[in-house]
Amino acid sequence: MNSSIRTVFVALPLLTFGSSALAQQDAARGKTAYEANCAACHTVIPGKHGFGPSLAGVVGREAGTVEGYKFTSALAQSGLHWDAKNLDEFLTNTTTKVPGTAMDLAVPNPADRAAIIAYLGTIQGPATAAKAAAAPAAPVMPRGAGPTQAELLAAQSNNRDWLYATHDYTGARYVDLAQISTKNAASLRPICIYRSDIPGPTQTNPIVYKGVIYVTVEKYTAAIDGKTCRAKWTHKWKADGREISLANRGVAIKDGILVRGQTDGNLIALDMESGKLLWSRKIANGDNGQYMSMPPLIFEDLVLYGPAGADWGAKNWIGAFKLTTGEQVWKFNLIPDANEPGAETWKDPKSLEHGGASLWTPISLDVKTGTLYVPAGNPAPDFYGDLRPGDNLYTNSVVALDVRTGKLKWYKQFGPADVWDGDLDQVSPLFSANVKGKKRDLITVSGKDGLMRVLDRDTQEMLFEVPVTRRENIDAKPTVPGVHRCPGLLGGIEYNGPAYNPKTQTLFTGANDWCGIFTLAGTAPTWAVQTHYYGGGVTPDSADQSKGVLMAFDAISGKVKWKKEWAHSWSSALTTTSGGVIFTGAYDNDFLVLDQANGEVLYRFNTGGSMGGGVVTYQVDGKQYVAAVSGVISGFHGGSGTSAIVVFALR
Ligand code: HEC
Repeated sequence: MNSSIRTVFVALPLLTFGSSALAQQDAARGKTAYEANCAACHTVIPGKHGFGPSLAGVVGREAGTVEGYKFTSALAQSGLHWDAKNLDEFLTNTTTKVPGTAMDLAVPNPADRAAIIAYLGTIQGPATAAKAAAAPAAPVMPRGAGPTQAELLAAQSNNRDWLYATHDYTGARYVDLAQISTKNAASLRPICIYRSDIPGPTQTNPIVYKGVIYVTVEKYTAAIDGKTCRAKWTHKWKADGREISLANRGVAIKDGILVRGQTDGNLIALDMESGKLLWSRKIANGDNGQYMSMPPLIFEDLVLYGPAGADWGAKNWIGAFKLTTGEQVWKFNLIPDANEPGAETWKDPKSLEHGGASLWTPISLDVKTGTLYVPAGNPAPDFYGDLRPGDNLYTNSVVALDVRTGKLKWYKQFGPADVWDGDLDQVSPLFSANVKGKKRDLITVSGKDGLMRVLDRDTQEMLFEVPVTRRENIDAKPTVPGVHRCPGLLGGIEYNGPAYNPKTQTLFTGANDWCGIFTLAGTAPTWAVQTHYYGGGVTPDSADQSKGVLMAFDAISGKVKWKKEWAHSWSSALTTTSGGVIFTGAYDNDFLVLDQANGEVLYRFNTGGSMGGGVVTYQVDGKQYVAAVSGVISGFHGGSGTSAIVVFALR
């Protein structure tokens, strides 16, 4: 509720501090002040809430966490720890400390505030359930039931749920659902909006299971009703270490357990039903330049995950962790250790220590052969290649691993010894098609180099490689005065990759056509914690010289079917359906439905925030919905709006 009390006057003499006797006096006076000013809305009885939450045990607890009380998202997502200092600042002016809180109040006298806080400090909270052990000894038992392995295996043909960041293990972003079609898309309308208070990077890919949407908003995780956008629960994580970047791209779910990476290097598991923490494992560390942003993939009892942070000189890897305990099962070094194969491609062994190779985008899985496909990002330092002579494996490579053991099956590098931050970042869609009368298993590989290619998964033969952006000064090298090059730092295919419609054998992709001037540092960089390990820099062309590109390709020949340009860079996901439409969104805030046949806009709606995250479609009670992610894209990409999910359906 919104209190109309702006200021509370508490008539108490000024107290001096410094002795426990005085503290006790303080507490006694605080009780009187509390009763006069707070008790109308709060109790100090554990578990008994009034207009406001019970204040029993409030000193020392995390803001907005007490069970059984529905907080505003402003307070729930404030990330505050209620120590004396934060409480004092809150009571000085609640809405200054927590903009948007429903408790609109000020206690102007410092001594009054101190007395109330001293009193509240004497009151025990409810017996709290022991915090889930960081490393549980026994497998956890979630309350709810999530998708089974059988459901994950059948995800490709599931047109009710959206079970992996890119829809299913093949990453096709295709749903066989035609209620919304080219004929009726114009009569779509927004039906609800979930809006968070967070103006941070908004790149998440929603997951949908049985009508509930699971998303990440920075460190927060939310379960949202897919028909009403009402939050079922939100979980907030308090970082316990250095946070290099706040970007996050989504969760994975199985057997009632939701898993995601955190900014501080913790892999965490939540109960899908309640949002309660089941376990957490610190698997990466900001002190090494690492953070975690990719959406996990779950197969059998394994969570596949690896850190990002190449641009801060991390040395990265991919690992498998047990779904029920977080225990590590295997690990494959994407930058080899000195004694491992591939190390010989780093002529200076010292350069391995901060070699890069981030994971930050979805991965893909061929369940028939048990092969996991991993896109390893750029080497570090990004622009100063002289510090790391050699080809720098496995940077900018597709790495094919045995999903159960982590053994290397094959790899293929695109752009060895990269000096352009040209991450290879997409290893999907996987698809099978008849090529000249022979059925072949294929993989789409693309990234920030502005190329999209299709390879044979068995022979690694390349069927085609086509440009999706301008490519200029591709083989030059950054210089001290600077080299204008396309794609630039944010150019090419970013964290949202292509989609594939099997009915028409068409690949669709969006790309950033955004160039820039790359400069080389005059002297070799030295690595330092939480500092870009670049050895140079990039001045992007002005944003009005950047373009978004949308293209449709014949998936076998690579022939362009159509191409559309947009006035700004493009990083939003594309989702295709058997209804002949593409669901996507643009930097200028518009949610878009396009005709797959020609790219024409069939419907648009201004969501009030930039669109650069996931767009998914699903059914609840037999009706088709579309959920689109809207809000600031990132510090680099820019954009506007607090993170939100906007859901659309037909009238
Ligand atoms: C008119 C009703 C009202 C009064 C009076 C009031 N509060 Fe609140 N208080 C609330 C509401 C409602 C919330 C929940 C706010 C939200 O969710 O944003 C709240 C939340 C809080 C919280 C956050 C608790 C948590 O678990 O995060 C604290 C601390 C708090 N109040 C302290 C006080 C103190 C101390 C006083 C007296 C000086 C006081 N309040 C007076 C209504 C009130």
